[in-house]
Amino acid sequence: MSVFEFSEDDRRLLSELRRDLHRHPELSWKEMRTQERLERALLECGVTSIERVAKTGLVARIPGRTAGAPVVALRGDIDALPITEATGLEFTSVHDGVMHACGHDVHASWAVGAALLLARNPAAGEVRIILQPAEEVGEGAAAVLASGALDGVHVIFGAHVDRRFAVGEVVAQEGPLAASTDTFAITLHGAGAHGARPQEAADPIVGAAELILALQTIVSRRLDPALPGVVTVGSIHAGRASNVIPETAELTGTVRATTSESRVLLTTEVVRLTHAVAATHRLRAEVAVNEGTPPVVNSPDASRWAAQAVHDILGPAALKPLGTTNMGGEDFAFYLEQIPGCFLRIGARETGGDRIAAHSPRFYPDEVSLFVGAMVLAQCARIAGNQATGTR
Ligand code: NI
Repeated sequence: MSVFEFSEDDRRLLSELRRDLHRHPELSWKEMRTQERLERALLECGVTSIERVAKTGLVARIPGRTAGAPVVALRGDIDALPITEATGLEFTSVHDGVMHACGHDVHASWAVGAALLLARNPAAGEVRIILQPAEEVGEGAAAVLASGALDGVHVIFGAHVDRRFAVGEVVAQEGPLAASTDTFAITLHGAGAHGARPQEAADPIVGAAELILALQTIVSRRLDPALPGVVTVGSIHAGRASNVIPETAELTGTVRATTSESRVLLTTEVVRLTHAVAATHRLRAEVAVNEGTPPVVNSPDASRWAAQAVHDILGPAALKPLGTTNMGGEDFAFYLEQIPGCFLRIGARETGGDRIAAHSPRFYPDEVSLFVGAMVLAQCARIAGNQATGTR
């Protein structure tokens, strides 16, 4: 297998697609132009079965070689972020305050690139190319699942560009890859009084202070120290005057975990400790835990197939360990809760380039990562289909 399965014409088509998407970024659930542009690109690649799903998403079906062979899905997310671009790229965003700062322009384009390769050289079974909207708000994956576009899918693959890794390096490994992203909102109800007469009050500020410290013991004392986890209080609001004890204090925060068990432990402990600390201060607590995305946990078989795909396309040296787990979230996790699969990290740092973090106004993936991602994902689909039927 050559490093470039793509002809020069293919590369021009995909590179123009990527640059066009980058120039015209659209926020979550507003990917109307993006949807239309991707539809056109898929048609240009010889893909004819295309359906609009989940409002601004698409699913394209590429027939397989063997009837009854397992169905594999490949997902690329397509939305942008409310950030003002500062990359200085020649195809910089023309939409003020909106930017592809997370590389979804490349993810969408590599999904189209994989479709092109699979239309030419099909997998054993059908492959569904999922162009998913609204990843940044954590809603798109659930909407795609609800649309039924993934019914009957046996394995799913997706990937993210990552400038911590050089172009040509890929992470494809079993187990936790990214964290869950739940949030909480707490209101402590006390009794207000004059600041000089605390004995007449139930002080929510002192209660909140103790609660913030108590919440830090969840990760340090309750969670297995070998597991990553985060409990962060991100906001606290109480009181308006120096000589008044207020009635209430409000806190919000986020909880990150990398397994479903530790996710339950952390959120349950936030609720339990809040009520317990509130009670010791004669306060009443209201706690709301808002479920975000689950942790991204790659399945063993799919991860092995993905690693094989990387090996086939790029050689044995390309496969890199993730290193420390990313405590950010990724809504691909919703798929992995229902379908076995693997989420990969595709190196996107050019030679001599910096490790620019995603969501920075200066973030951009090197364009070669587009072709690497497309080839690796297409190969994932081929191997997964064959492996699952035992024909490889
Ligand atoms: Ni992203």
